[in-house]
Amino acid sequence: MRAEYAERHRRKLYGRRKGPALSARQEHLLATLLPKLTPQLQQGLDPKHYFQSPPPCGEAGERSDPGGGRSLAPFPPTRNSLRELSTSPQGGGDVEIDDVWLEIGFGAGEHLHWQALNHPRVGLLGAEPFVNGVAKLLTKIEDEPAPNIRIYMEDARDIIAALPEASLGRVFVLFPDPWPKLRHHKRRFLQTEMLDQLARVMKPGAELRFGSDDAPLVEYTLERLMAHPTFAWTATRASDWRQRTPDWPQTRYEAKQLHGIPAFLRFIRV
Ligand SMILES: C[S@@+](CC[C@H](N)C(=O)[O-])C[C@H]1O[C@@H](n2cnc3c(N)ncnc32)[C@H](O)[C@@H]1O
Repeated sequence: MRAEYAERHRRKLYGRRKGPALSARQEHLLATLLPKLTPQLQQGLDPKHYFQSPPPCGEAGERSDPGGGRSLAPFPPTRNSLRELSTSPQGGGDVEIDDVWLEIGFGAGEHLHWQALNHPRVGLLGAEPFVNGVAKLLTKIEDEPAPNIRIYMEDARDIIAALPEASLGRVFVLFPDPWPKLRHHKRRFLQTEMLDQLARVMKPGAELRFGSDDAPLVEYTLERLMAHPTFAWTATRASDWRQRTPDWPQTRYEAKQLHGIPAFLRFIRV
């Protein structure tokens, strides 16, 4: 546990944690709904368990506390908190799950929410440290409940490190920060070391989706994925990466068109 804690704090997160002031509704949802949707990460636990209530806790009653004490469900769960979890209309209760997908850096969560509504038997795990983005997703969930969403308001690398082998059916990395300066390239999310970790946690046949409108980042990511023995690019013609598939809704950053024409890359974990 101590080693895990040290490892978590050794990783540095780049980018903003907080933006403009939150509305009263958003503050309320962060205080009340987020704790119900936050998975309590446990090393090696099948992620399907994060979609059951009560939230799993350590074997010896030890609290796994990857959120640094923030936004976690009450521990140990009280009778009231369990009742609340299993009856919450927005989610947090038991969901029948066949597969689990992970979205890394979901921003305002429009894509994650869409996937959850359109795949009710898939558990959608989303990681996003930007509080304002999480707050936006929470308002979407309150307006249109998606009980198969879990939100981790921290570094996605914590989730990946905790997952057992071959436990994810799909991973999304959509319009990540391009970090254009050469000295910042090491901050780019999909490095070879991360691809090794994704290869470990993704099932054979699972899909990795990457979208970006930043040509140098697309080239950089493609080079690394093509060189990786465990991933195969699905494209056979240009239209395969110039056009989105019908089950790939637009994200906020894609809509901003900050850099250029987007590419939609899909890789299979062989
Ligand atoms: C440019 S935004 C794109 C957001 C969203 N995917 C979209 O397309 O609108 C990149 C997001 O990745 C998040 N991010 C960066 N590093 C992350 C990490 N290690 N784990 C989870 N999210 C991360 C940032 O907080 C930011 O919100």
